[in-house]
Amino acid sequence: MAQSGLSAAPSQVEAIQADGCGVESDVRDSAIRSKYEAVRRATRAVAASMSSEDQMVQSCPEASPMKWHQAHTTWFFETFVLRPFVKGLKPFREEFYWLFNSYYNSLGGIPEKSLRSVFSRPSLDEILAFRKYIDQEMDRFLASGADEEATRRIVLGLNHEQQHQELALTDIKHVFCSNPLYPSYMADPFSEEKDPPVSKLAWHSYDGGFGRPIGISSHRQPDGSSPGFA
Ligand SMILES: [Fe+2]
Repeated sequence: MAQSGLSAAPSQVEAIQADGCGVESDVRDSAIRSKYEAVRRATRAVAASMSSEDQMVQSCPEASPMKWHQAHTTWFFETFVLRPFVKGLKPFREEFYWLFNSYYNSLGGIPEKSLRSVFSRPSLDEILAFRKYIDQEMDRFLASGADEEATRRIVLGLNHEQQHQELALTDIKHVFCSNPLYPSYMADPFSEEKDPPVSKLAWHSYDGGFGRPIGISSHRQPDGSSPGFA
């Protein structure tokens, strides 16, 4: 994606995550573009350890294939940002409007969730082309300046995609543990010998007991007092 001449500090990106629009529009546009690129890149990173076959598998009805996660998160931006805010937008493929919907009954029929793994078509290549097309359209849209409502929806879409990254990792974990070969998600997992990406887990000691009573304010304590909230 094209780079903006403006740069946004991490705190400004966080401000956009927190309330969507509470910064000046030029900084907001720059920050939202950076955030958009980072989140979409993170999804590609999640998928990078999976083969095309891995991305087709749905090992239980509650899970979804990675290919579907990639399409559905992209569907969000086409459906709720580009279609309403970009005049004359040419959808990548009209059927995707309902094919990758998962919860909005008002948008039309929703394909049965437990059958997502039978979607051998569209192909993974077509889904990746869909992602690329929407990224290009989003880049063009963001370069033109998104208003506050569009920005709010983009932030929601990014949070939604991050949620699906977590779901995708959970789903592939179930896929691999259901496979009798127990394949590894990462060929070179982090080990004790290498620098871990996060600090080691450790126990911390705290004094026991609550600092003050907890509960809803309508519930009285035995002594008749009203509890506070922890
Ligand atoms: Fe979703």
